[in-house]
Amino acid sequence: MSIHIEATPGQIAETVLLPGDPLRAQWIAKKFLKKVVQYNSVRNMLGFTGIAPNGKRISVQGSGMGMPSLGIYTNELIKDYGVKNIIRVGSAGSLSERLPCNSIIIAAGACTDSGMNDRRFHGMNFAPIANWGLLKKADKVASKMKVDVTVGNIISVDKFYEDVEPHTWKVFKEYGVLAIEMETAELYTLAAKNEINALTILTISDNLVTGDHLSASKRERSFKDMVKIAVEL
Ligand code: HPA
Repeated sequence: MSIHIEATPGQIAETVLLPGDPLRAQWIAKKFLKKVVQYNSVRNMLGFTGIAPNGKRISVQGSGMGMPSLGIYTNELIKDYGVKNIIRVGSAGSLSERLPCNSIIIAAGACTDSGMNDRRFHGMNFAPIANWGLLKKADKVASKMKVDVTVGNIISVDKFYEDVEPHTWKVFKEYGVLAIEMETAELYTLAAKNEINALTILTISDNLVTGDHLSASKRERSFKDMVKIAVEL
């Protein structure tokens, strides 16, 4: 048992899917895994282990929203449970007219405006990047499934509601950054520090340029395609 996860050693698989929403973790476990065992309900941040359609044993763990929350679960998964592969499956806001709602993005890298890396690197800039092996495989699995994915740079921010101009997304859009979310830079940074593999796959839930957005129920289809890619990895 770690501070925020009540699993016993061995109950969590070496590969973990990491959605932000714990109810998404439950949905993924129910829909995609067999022989499911729930190993965590501390703070309702649900976690499950089961068998994926390809026969591999994997876990699904909610991370909560934002880098501080994701950092808690990622640290404990790695240090207390020996997890080696973490695949975040989440939603993001598009910064491009060419990526409408329901598009799927694989994050090759994650910029950040977070104070977390500012402090960690003493004001210098670290470039958090995806694991190349996982990224290459995800792209291959998506083509085999005939699901369109866009691979590129994203930004992970501290604030969902920005109150100071210029808003971060407007600055980063000018440099070809595709989407905005709140977790991946910390995931990729912790993966680098702890020598594990990490990848983020995102579905677009809203578009900051056009103002378009999806209702929660309409997100399900593209979420399903994204998770199908992730469980195949
Ligand atoms: N900002 C931050 N995170 C997000 C957004 C956004 O606009 N949309 C989905 N996740």
